[in-house]
Amino acid sequence: MHDSTFSAALQRRRDWLDAWHSEGTDIYRLLHGAVEGAPGVAVDRYGPILLVQTWREPLAEGALQEWVEQAGQAVGAELTGVWNHREKPIDFERWFPLDALDAHGHELGLQFDVRPRHRGQDPLLFVDLRSVRRRIRGAVAGKRVLNLFAYTCGVGLAAAAGGAQDVLNVDWAGSALAVGRHNAERNDVPDVQRFLEEDCLAAMRQLGGLPVGGRRGKRGRFTRLAPDAFDLVVLDPPRWSTSRFGAVDVVRDYPGLFKPALCCTVPGGTVVATNHVPSVDLDDWLEVLQRCARKAGRPLAEVEVMTPEADVPSPDGRPPLKVAWCTTAAG
Ligand SMILES: C[S@@+](CC[C@H](N)C(=O)[O-])C[C@H]1O[C@@H](n2cnc3c(N)ncnc32)[C@H](O)[C@@H]1O
Repeated sequence: MHDSTFSAALQRRRDWLDAWHSEGTDIYRLLHGAVEGAPGVAVDRYGPILLVQTWREPLAEGALQEWVEQAGQAVGAELTGVWNHREKPIDFERWFPLDALDAHGHELGLQFDVRPRHRGQDPLLFVDLRSVRRRIRGAVAGKRVLNLFAYTCGVGLAAAAGGAQDVLNVDWAGSALAVGRHNAERNDVPDVQRFLEEDCLAAMRQLGGLPVGGRRGKRGRFTRLAPDAFDLVVLDPPRWSTSRFGAVDVVRDYPGLFKPALCCTVPGGTVVATNHVPSVDLDDWLEVLQRCARKAGRPLAEVEVMTPEADVPSPDGRPPLKVAWCTTAAG
C-alpha cells in the first residue's frame, strides 16, 4: 500500500465529515480496502476509536500511530488507535490501552457500544449497514419489525428510534443480544424491543407457520412461538452456520431462509434481505428471491437494490454486500 493511500482516502471524505457530524454520526469508514488502493485493510472511526483491521499483511511498524494522527486531524477529534489483525487472535495487552476498552460512538444521534474488546472478532456495529438502518428508521413508524440474525440489534435500535410499535430481535448469541439490550437502555428511545436468544431457523419457521426442521429427537429444546406476521422483516444472515435445526447457507440455499421470512411478513409488507458473499452475483441472487417468492405463493410487488453509503464505496456499483428491499404483493 502506498504511503499516501490513507491521506487520499481522508481527503475524499473531507466534504462528508461535516454532514455526518451534524447528523450525529461519528461511526464511519475512512479507508475501504482494495477499491481505495488498500487490499486487505479497512479503517473505521468508532467514536473515540480508530479501528484498523487487516486481513492479509500486518500493519507496518509505526503505521497505526501515524494514521491515528492523520485521522484525528481530519475528523477533529482525539482518537485511540486499535489494530485488529484478522489473521490471528488480537494481542490485547499490546494494542489496547485499558481506557479504550469501554467506548461508545454515535450514528444518527443514537449511542452505540463500540468497545473494541469483546468476545468476537467483528466490530459491535457494522458500518456498511448504515444505509439500511437509516431507511428502516424512516419507514417503520407504528409498524411491527422482526430483526433476524440481529447480532447487537443495531437495526432494532434504529427501528425503535423510528417509532416502531414492536421490535423482535432474534439471534442465538446471548452476548450480542446483551449489547443490544444495553444500547436500548442507554438511548432515549421507546421501550419496544424484545430480545430472543434462539436459533433463527427454529424461530422464523414457527413464526411463519412452517414446521421446524432438523432431525426430531436431535433438536432438543427450543422456544415455542405462535405464528405471527410482521410489517417489516430484516433477514441479514451470515454466509454459513449450522445447527441442529439445519444449515444457514446463503450461497446454496437462500430460499431456505427467504421463504420462512416471507411467511412471517404481512401481505404488502417488506423483507429486507442481505447477502454478504462477494462471489454471489447480484442478478442471480435477485432471481433466486423472485423465484422463491413465487413458489411460496408470496410474490414480490417490487424489489429495490440498496447500496452502502459513500464511506463504503464500490466504484462498479456492485458492492459485496447486496441488499434487496422487497415489498410483497398485497393480499
Ligand atoms: C451478519 S451478522 C448479523 C448482523 C446484524 N444483522 C447487524 O445488523 O449488525 C450474523 C449473526 O447471525 C447469528 N447467527 C448465525 N447463525 C444463526 C442461527 N442459526 N440462529 C441465530 N443466530 C445465528 C450470529 O450470532 C451473528 O450475530
